[in-house]
Order: sequence, then structure tokens, then C-alpha cells
Amino acid sequence: MSDNAILQVGPLAPQLNDTLQQQYGAVALWQQADRAAWTGAHGASVRVVVTSARHGCDAALIAALPKLQAIVSFGVGYDSIDLEAARARGIVVSNTPDVLNDCVADLAFGLLLDSARGIAHGDRFVRAGSWLQGAFPLTTRVSGKKLGILGLGRIGEKVARRAAGFDMKIAYHNRGPRAGAPWRFEADLLALADWADFLAITCVGGPQTEGLVSRAVIEALGPRGILVNVSRGSVVDEDALVEALRTGRLGGAGLDVFRDEPRVPQALLALDNVVLAPHMASGTHETRAAMAALVLENLAAFLAGGKVVTPVA
Ligand code: DGY
Repeated sequence: MSDNAILQVGPLAPQLNDTLQQQYGAVALWQQADRAAWTGAHGASVRVVVTSARHGCDAALIAALPKLQAIVSFGVGYDSIDLEAARARGIVVSNTPDVLNDCVADLAFGLLLDSARGIAHGDRFVRAGSWLQGAFPLTTRVSGKKLGILGLGRIGEKVARRAAGFDMKIAYHNRGPRAGAPWRFEADLLALADWADFLAITCVGGPQTEGLVSRAVIEALGPRGILVNVSRGSVVDEDALVEALRTGRLGGAGLDVFRDEPRVPQALLALDNVVLAPHMASGTHETRAAMAALVLENLAAFLAGGKVVTPVA
């Protein structure tokens, strides 16, 4: 093994796997029978880790790779990468921001529309033959309603722009007001939830947002309110969410992310007031190709000049 080995933590898109393995000789850690034995024997030869938001790179893996200089990740989220451990060793970390903004915002808006208008529920209703027995229940209007956005970053902004096309009133909560944003800043998340008809979560995951959408926030959104989450399951008190959806203390939800993916709380499977998606917001051919290209760009730039194109801030 050369001293410049590239280690790939988990499988990515087949074409990206092939390029990494054929062009860069990347070692597939997930294909090693014993990961710890492999890192014990070869860890000192690894210079770059290629991973993803899903596969991550924790402190134990970083510690097992004493010559590691860069972590190149597929995905915008980096909550599964131990940034503190990386920073302490001066390891560069890159992600794939921006190229997925539109598709994630599209799905957020799709979940919002579906949870309000019952599209997936209506589909089940028709397929089950229930239409022959009677009309579908009335649903909730979207146009002109109030949308709260938790996390007005690049994705949140795209959600706001889509909502403007539906004549929605928009307000957002961030740690502070975002310079130049034309929408109302609300410093108190509880007040935002209380005001909003819909609350869309587009903030980052990780310790700084863990449990931010608490039972109180969920209940402030209320029996007619709808929660949409395309961020991370960790941002929401999931037990409180399930209970509120079950008891009607929250009107509905559209969820692309969960605390223990791919496991989804059993209680949600039986509920018609929640739309469930398998963490698919960035999962279009176009966006995944752009993300793969950015991973390769970051890798090539680091190998050529020691710098990545899109470092994690
Ligand atoms: C991301 O890019 O972070 C997506 O959520 C995929 O994990």
C-alpha cells in the first residue's frame, strides 16, 4: 500500500465507486472483512478519506489514520463527520454544498403540498377502492398561508422562493437575522411555530440543533399546523412528534429524515396525517451526478494542491 492511499468508507453511486477505485485506487473499507484489522495494518498509509453524509467519519476512524490530511464527503450535511477531531489534527474537510439546493427545496415543497393536500393519502384511497364508497375528506389550503422556516441557509432560501410563488407569508428563525434576506426574522422559535401554518426545517444537523424542535415547538404549531423536515431527524424530538401526530396535537407532517434511518417509528406507518420519504431530497439523477462531480473535483484539487474546492466552513 502506498503512502498516499485513499480510503472510501462506504458505497456511493456505482459510477463514482468505479472512478474512485479505478482512477484513484481507493480502498473500499466497507468491503474489508474486518475494518479494525485493516486500519490497524494499513491505517498509517491513508492520506485521504472519501465518505458521505450517510457513512460519516467518526473520531475513532480519524484516530486510526495518523497520516490523514483530508476528508472528502458526498453530501451537504457533515454532522456524521467529527469536525472537532478533524480540526484538532488540521485535517481538511469538504462537502458538496449548493449543487443540491434546488432538489432539496423541491422535495421540501412537495412534502409540504402533499401533507396539506393529501396527495399520497388520496393515492392510497383510490387504489384501495375507497372512492367507490364515498368522497375523500377535505384537506388544507396551501396558497396564501404562513410559512416559518427554521434555518434560512441556501436551501431554506430556495424553499422561501418557492413559497413566494404560492403567495405565502414567510418568516424565519436563525441564530441571527440573515443580511439581505427580504423575509421577517423571528428570534423566538416558539413564536415562529405559534405564528406559522407550516414549519419547514432546513437547518444543519449536529449538536447545535439537536432537539431544537421540542414538544413545546410542535404543540405551538398545533392541531392545524404542518411540520416539514428535510434536515436531520436529530433536530426534532421524535417521540413528541409521533405522539402529537397520533393524538392530533399536530395536524400533519412531511418527513424525509428520521433519527434512526432507515428505521422509521412504527407508529407513523399507520397514520394518514404524515407523509414519509426515504431521505431522498437530493436523490435525482441530475443532482447526484453534480454531487459526484464535486466530490471528484475536491479530491483532485486536494491531491494536486493540498486544497479542496468546497471546504466545510
Ligand atoms: C445531505 O447531503 O446531507 C443529504 O441529507 C444526504 O445525506
